[in-house]
This record gives sequence, structure tokens and C-alpha cells, in this order.
Amino acid sequence: MSGRRAFLGSAGGLVAAAGLSRVARASASTSFFGEHQAGIVSPQPTQTYFAALDVITKRPGDIVRMFRAWTDAASRLTSGDEAPGDSGETLGIETSGLTLTFGLGAGLFDGRYGLAAHRPEALMDLPGFHGDQLVPERSGGDLSIQACADDPQVVFHAVRQLVRLADGVARVRWAQTGFLPDTPKDATPRNLMGFKDGTRNALDHARLVWVGDEGPSWMRGGSYLVVRKIRMALEHWDVTDVDFQEETIGRSKRSGAPLGKEREHDPPDFESMDADGNPVIAENAHLRMAAPETNSGVQILRRGYSYNDGANFTAERWPPWRQGIEYDAGLLFMAYQRDPRTGFIPLFENMAKLDALNQFTTHVGSGLFACPGGIAPGQFLAQGLFDAT
Ligand code: HEM
Repeated sequence: MSGRRAFLGSAGGLVAAAGLSRVARASASTSFFGEHQAGIVSPQPTQTYFAALDVITKRPGDIVRMFRAWTDAASRLTSGDEAPGDSGETLGIETSGLTLTFGLGAGLFDGRYGLAAHRPEALMDLPGFHGDQLVPERSGGDLSIQACADDPQVVFHAVRQLVRLADGVARVRWAQTGFLPDTPKDATPRNLMGFKDGTRNALDHARLVWVGDEGPSWMRGGSYLVVRKIRMALEHWDVTDVDFQEETIGRSKRSGAPLGKEREHDPPDFESMDADGNPVIAENAHLRMAAPETNSGVQILRRGYSYNDGANFTAERWPPWRQGIEYDAGLLFMAYQRDPRTGFIPLFENMAKLDALNQFTTHVGSGLFACPGGIAPGQFLAQGLFDAT
């Protein structure tokens, strides 16, 4: 046990840790086993590496062998051990709170592996949404792996080990890194638009996040993950008045409070009008469009990360006194829910058409993954699915 882990493990250490930032807090290891997969409702570390894979083998037995190998490697990696054949670039580095969360895409159930009869109805192809500009090479996938930790090398390393163990069975279709600022404990991190993001989120996990008796046994205690890679036109946002930015979101930039209120966690008032008779929170503000009050109570658990993949330049870079830049940056939107048909899909259908935020955002990647329930030591990932076939 390292010095820091020993320190955090002591009672005095825990008290001392309570006031620390996210990075300092999450250095302990998180078990891969349990009722639910880790990395869904657990606190969000600052770094992520997400990979979607296509299954390429012709033999169903290969998938089971790979899932066994992944389970073994994931339990080792999350407890600070090496994976078999480890590439070694995290030797001597803390696990940094590493969690690994796996998902199954609809493509796995397309008939190639005798699983077609076992596809949960909720695991569908997401419908097309207004304004989508999805890039096929950045969308879909038969499997997903998400690593989260407080160190970018730790998350990359973990996914690399799992990808290597998948050789000949599955290969990476697309991958995306993400990050959050190192924000004090209990404060809401800001996204790349500078707004606090995550203030109001699904809290009733049993009702809204975890699959219950309605799902197949291997999905009970699991959840459905919607991933959207959303580019932000930050070059446009950065020259937009803060007043207009706040109108777009429906919250104050500095405090995070709903417009018309004082504090971040004050409930929004969608009825109040200003002196001119206009709603204080605009009809098309992101907050109003996304709120449970205006969506028959629909709520999802958002657990997204910012991404920053550099910059592109417009063809002419004209006029020469402007930047002529397009940042390749935005939000790796990730949302968990019990069923996308009562979560993301109805919520986003309306937002995709009307949300004021759409002026600044473009959805370029997408995926839906069934993240199985947790397993006990001795079992392997999604075992109930294969036991049923
Ligand atoms: C780049 C794109 C997006 C940005 C920058 C963004 C930003 C924000 C911000 C700043 C808030 C207010 C703070 C909070 O309550 O967490 C918020 C709330 C929310 N957003 Fe987004 N968002 C984006 C995309 C989406 C999408 C695609 C959905 C999908 C359905 C969504 C759903 C929600 C929900 C449900 C809330 C909470 C509403 C409430 O209960 O008050 N957002 N978002």
C-alpha cells in the first residue's frame, strides 16, 4: 500500500480527505464487483477514455472467452494490479480511482452469434434526430468500454490492455478521451462553455437509472448508456455576450442559479415574467427544454465529460484579422437511464428541434449501449446472457 493510500485509509485521513479536491479524493481503488457496475452512479473522476468496439470474430465462443479475460483484467486493473501481459506504463502510479464500465450494443444481437432472441427491446438503434450530423466512423459499436480515473494515463492504459486482450475477437471502432476540471468536492464542474454542468440530475437511481424486473436477468441492476459526441462552436460562443449565453442556458454563468433566482440549487421558476411580460427563463432555454417539469417528469443521469481534440481552420482563414478557427472540442455527453424509450429519446426529440443551445452545438457521434448489472467474484461480465443461450 502506498503512503497516500495508507493515509487516506486511516480515520484521520478520511476526515482530512473530505475537504480535498476530486483528484486528491479518488486515489483509493474501487472494486470491479458489486450489485451494479462501477462508473455509473459513482462520483465522477476527472479523466475518461471511452472506446466502442466492433466484434469481428465468427465464433460465439470467442466472445465468452474475451468477456472472461476482460473480467479478470478489469478486476486486476481496478485494484491496482497489472493485467496479464501488461504494457507497464502505469507501474508505480496510483489506480487513481479507476473504474471500468462495459456495455453491449444492438449490433451484438444481430444474429451473427445466436443472440438475436435475447436482445432487450430497450436496446434499439436510436432514431435520427433533427440536426444530427453523425459520422458513422464515430458512432455505434457492438461493445463499449469506459475507463474513468483521475489520471489520463491510467484510463488510456486500462483500455489499451482490454483492447489487446480482444485481439482477433473485437476491434476499436471509435474512441474518445474526455476530462473535467479539478473542482472542489461538492462543487459542480464547469463545461467548456463556462457553465456549471450537472447541477440537477436524476437522484432516484432505483426508479430512473437501474433496470428492474422488466429486463432480462443479466440487465437487472444495469443501465442503458446514451453517448453523444457534441461539438461546440466555441469560436462562436466566445464572441457571444454573456447575457445571451445565460438566456441560452437559462442559468447564471457565475453562480449557476436558474435565471431569476439567487443560488445554484434554487428550483427554477418557469412561470415568472419580467417587466416586459417575457418569461425570465426563455421558452427555448436549454434548462426549460430539458427540465423534468416540462417533460412529464422524464429524468436521466448525465455523466458527461468535456473533450478537446485540437483545432481545424476554415479553408480561406478569411478575413485575415479573425481567427478562422474551428475548435474540435465539446461535450462527450453520456447519460444513463433505465430505458432510453422513457429517457433520452423523448427528452431529446423535442430539444433537437427547439433548444436555443442548438445554435452552438452539433451532434457528430452517437451510441446506445446496454451496460449489464454488476457481478460477483467468480462470475464474468454479462454471464447471464450467455448462460441463457
Ligand atoms: C453541448 C451540449 C450541452 C451542453 C453544453 C449542456 C449544458 C447544460 C447546462 C449548463 C445545464 C444546466 C446545469 C444543470 O442542471 O446541470 C444543463 C442541464 C441539463 N441538460 Fe444539458 N447540455 C448539453 C446537451 C444536452 C443534451 C443533448 C441533453 C439531452 C437530453 C441534455 C440534457 C440536460 C438535462 C436533462 C439537464 C437538467 C435539466 C434540469 O433538470 O434542470 N443536455 N445542460
